[in-house]
Amino acid sequence: MTNPHHSATRPEWTEWPYPFWVAHRGAGKLAPENTMAAFRHGAHFGYRMFECDAKLSRDGVLFLMHDTELARTTNGEGIAAEQDWGTLAQLDAGSWHSRRWAGEPLPTLRNLLHWCIRNHYAINIEIKPSPGAESETGRAVAELVAQIWPDTLPPPLLSSFKPQALAAARQAVPAQTRALLMDEWSDGSLALAGELGCAALVCNQLLWTPERVQQCHGRLLRALSYTVNEAEHAQRLKDLGTDGIITDRIDLFSPIGTTHAPL
Ligand code: G3P
Ligand code: MG
Repeated sequence: MTNPHHSATRPEWTEWPYPFWVAHRGAGKLAPENTMAAFRHGAHFGYRMFECDAKLSRDGVLFLMHDTELARTTNGEGIAAEQDWGTLAQLDAGSWHSRRWAGEPLPTLRNLLHWCIRNHYAINIEIKPSPGAESETGRAVAELVAQIWPDTLPPPLLSSFKPQALAAARQAVPAQTRALLMDEWSDGSLALAGELGCAALVCNQLLWTPERVQQCHGRLLRALSYTVNEAEHAQRLKDLGTDGIITDRIDLFSPIGTTHAPL
């Protein structure tokens, strides 16, 4: 596998290289999620890091979609992973949202990454496997990133609720930056993140307490939150000393000006 962007002088990302604010699915709810229109819209609001959801088509193309099924966010029906990319690429992924975005297509992950590279944007790729495709999807994301992402930019943050997907990503390309997503806290969460070689935990914001943030940082893991849409919640997470917020409310939160302390 060759990547023309890899340089001899690879920077060491010893500190957390990402913006504090991350636009969820591109532009939250202001544009059709996980479309290029949404990422452009998020960038227009000043955001420089985006979260997206990536899964595999039947013929092995990584594309962006949150749900397992097509119905909510496209004019298609059935299971997304049962369609080839050639079919998925014809779908309208914008009309469900509003007239303004009618005809907006589904993007491939590759296209989104190229757009990020061109514009020096950071990206959080949530590995969102269709059921049963956890390892395959994790591996495919890791390999695509290794193939095209330049080592002169902060690396994509690969996250997943599925440990199996993260394990496969790690096995394929050990040196990438990974994060474990969690909707419920358990005593084993920090250890699991460590076993998966993760650099961060990305939690449902309600899970964070001062003790958990401290434990997380104590293990040199960054503490991030999703999906934070209220100013008072964001302030609580800042006061706790957490490291990043994924939000829908790109129209409410200015993405400028929050820096990271070293752990
Ligand atoms: O990656 C953070 C967040 O997107 C996880 O939940 O369901 O919105 O993909 P979901
Ligand atoms: Mg997501």
